[in-house]
Amino acid sequence: MKLEGKVVLVTGSSQGIGQAIAIRLAEEGADIIIDYRSHPEGAEETKAKVEATGRKGLVVKADLGVVSDVHRMVSDGVQHFGKLDILVNNAGLEKHADFWDITEEDYDAVLNVNLKGVFFATQAIVKHLRETQRQGKIINISSVHEELPFPHFTTYCASKGGVKMMMRNLAIELGPLGITINNVAPGAINTPINKSLIEDKAKLNAVLQNIPLGRLGETKDISSIVAFLASPDADYITGSTFFVDGGLLWNYHEQ
Ligand code: BGC
Repeated sequence: MKLEGKVVLVTGSSQGIGQAIAIRLAEEGADIIIDYRSHPEGAEETKAKVEATGRKGLVVKADLGVVSDVHRMVSDGVQHFGKLDILVNNAGLEKHADFWDITEEDYDAVLNVNLKGVFFATQAIVKHLRETQRQGKIINISSVHEELPFPHFTTYCASKGGVKMMMRNLAIELGPLGITINNVAPGAINTPINKSLIEDKAKLNAVLQNIPLGRLGETKDISSIVAFLASPDADYITGSTFFVDGGLLWNYHEQ
C-alpha cells in the first residue's frame, strides 16, 4: 500500500478510466474524492467499490467546464478530508465533426472540460498545497492525441495538445514547490468514450490493425501506471508523458 494517508481527487470518476483509477488508488490506501457531472449512479458505484477496500469516498457533483464548480469541488473535498494531496485530471469528452461544421457550443463543450477544467482544478490544488506548505502530485489523463493527429476531432486534439504544454510548463514552475506533474496518454481503451467504435465491427478491426499489441487497452492498463505515478516511487518524475497505447502512436509500416 503506497498511498496510505493520502487524499486523492479523481475528476470524472463515475465511469470508465476515472472509475478504475479511483478504485485502484483506494486499494493503495488513499481516500478518494469522486467527481461526476451526469452519472450519479456511477459515482455511487465507485464510492461503494472504494469503501469496499476499507477506504473512504466522497461524491461531489461538479462540471469541470464551470470554474465555480471546480472551486467548490476542491473546497468541499478539503473541508471533508482536511486536506488534498494528489489530483488526477481525468474528466474529458470528445466530439466528432468536420472542421467546417464545428460550432462554438461544441468547441466550448470540449475545451472547457478538457483544458480549462484541468487548468483551474490544478490551480486550485496548487493553491491549497502552497497554503498548507505541502508537496503533492498532479496526473493528467491526456491521450495519444496530445501528439497524434485525429482528423474530425480537432477540438479534442487542441485540448490535449494544450494539456501537454500546460504540463511541461508547470513541471518547471511547480518543481521548486515539490509538486510533480505528468501526463498519462491512453490509446484506444475499452470504455464508454469508445462505445460507438466498439459497436462498429469494421471500424474496430481497422483500429486494431493499427495497434501492434493487437487489442484495445483495458482500464486497469491505465490505473496501474497512475498508481505508480501517484506513489513515492515516482518522486523524481515530472514533466513527462507516458503513452499507454499498445504501440499505436509510433506504428508505421509499409504494406
Ligand atoms: C480517444 C478515442 C480513440 C483513441 C485512439 C482516445 O483519446 O478518446 O476515441 O479511439 O484515443 O485513437
